[in-house]
Amino acid sequence: MQFLNTLAFARQLDYKDSLAKYRDKFFYPQTNGKDVIYFTGNSLGLQPKNAQEYVNEVMKDWADLAVEGHFYANKPWWDYHERLATPLAKVVGAKTEEVSVMNTLTVNLHLLLVSFYRPTKKRFKIICEEKAFPSDQYMLQSQVRFHGLDEEEAIVEIKKRQGEHFWRTEDVISKIEEIGDELALVLIGGVNYYNGQVFDMESVTASGKRVGAYVGWDLAHAAGNVELKLHDWDVDFAAWCSYKYMNSGPGNASGFFVHERYLNKKDIPRFEGWWGTKKETRFLMKREFEPMENADAWQLSNAPILSVAPYLASLQLFEEVGMHALLEKQKLLTSYLEFILEEIDKQVESSFEIITPKERGCQLSVFLHGEGRSLFDYLMKNGVITDWREPNVIRLAPTPFYCSFEDMFRFGEILKAGILSK
Ligand SMILES: Cc1ncc(COP(=O)(O)O)c(C=O)c1O
Repeated sequence: MQFLNTLAFARQLDYKDSLAKYRDKFFYPQTNGKDVIYFTGNSLGLQPKNAQEYVNEVMKDWADLAVEGHFYANKPWWDYHERLATPLAKVVGAKTEEVSVMNTLTVNLHLLLVSFYRPTKKRFKIICEEKAFPSDQYMLQSQVRFHGLDEEEAIVEIKKRQGEHFWRTEDVISKIEEIGDELALVLIGGVNYYNGQVFDMESVTASGKRVGAYVGWDLAHAAGNVELKLHDWDVDFAAWCSYKYMNSGPGNASGFFVHERYLNKKDIPRFEGWWGTKKETRFLMKREFEPMENADAWQLSNAPILSVAPYLASLQLFEEVGMHALLEKQKLLTSYLEFILEEIDKQVESSFEIITPKERGCQLSVFLHGEGRSLFDYLMKNGVITDWREPNVIRLAPTPFYCSFEDMFRFGEILKAGILSK
């Protein structure tokens, strides 16, 4: 499509957008009495208006029924989390039984590594991307130390090439092949938090499996943002948070995936608790653990219903819209933002550079030359919510649920004014 950097053109795209009506289903912060242009859905998604209804329902059931709510609430609490599995499975390309929700992301990655990082004398190495999200680095380092191994020896980071801003799939695969039968685990962020790159999860997974390693993905920036086919790609395990593209509220519960080949097994190494044992016999308070037949076997505690409620509310919107429609809009909206950035860049003589490769979801990371921080402050003061990453990067994530094409045009105008005012 031939884009134009005009308000009329942006409005025409909004007019044709079948998802435009979903804008009204979210709350927006205001600056100078106007809805902000919100680019930080990659950090914390906006609040869907139906979230309060779902939370209030739980609060009311708690007030009216107290402990009886476990079995007699409108949506009984003892199996409340099960309602999330089917819609979530569609978001990540899994079977319903392969998906569940519990804890938070870093906790879930640790718990999954109990099952999927089983180092031996020979096979003990982990491959991850260089400068992985810090929590993932700490998680991997502490896992390695926990097993009495040396971090420097056990953790192998895939580097970007000199002068490049992205990782090459061939470099990831050749490192996997080089380490071969010493490789215990590949664990990478499916979409990198800094440059917005989508890894070729299918090829990397296949390569890791070929050398006999487990392959897992941190999907914090991928779930609800890019196409995922976890089951078909034969991924062993994955986990993601729900507060970014999944719009479920700050610090909210994490979803996770375990491939069906590991389900319904008693002998798998796993930390266990009462919510993972068969629900039919759970309240008989028996001594032995009988795993649930689905990913719920990894559940430890009874679910935090008040956090799972807004996640369910958000998933209702994902169900209505479907990933296909979201991805279609995401591609067009991000391409339009890219076009606007390129247009402004031409007009103001190259004061920034997009460092996100073409393999991307909705995030564009922009490296600002010169006085980047003051430009970022200008944007924030003028109603553009974005975020700053050292040394000089702003991340722009136009999410298809609630960002409009007009937002992209208006952002371009504010950006240009900000650059010219310096
Ligand atoms: C890629 C990635 N991994 C892990 C985390 C940590 O998430 P949590 O605080 O929910 O454990 C984040 C948080 O933003 C993240 O972006």
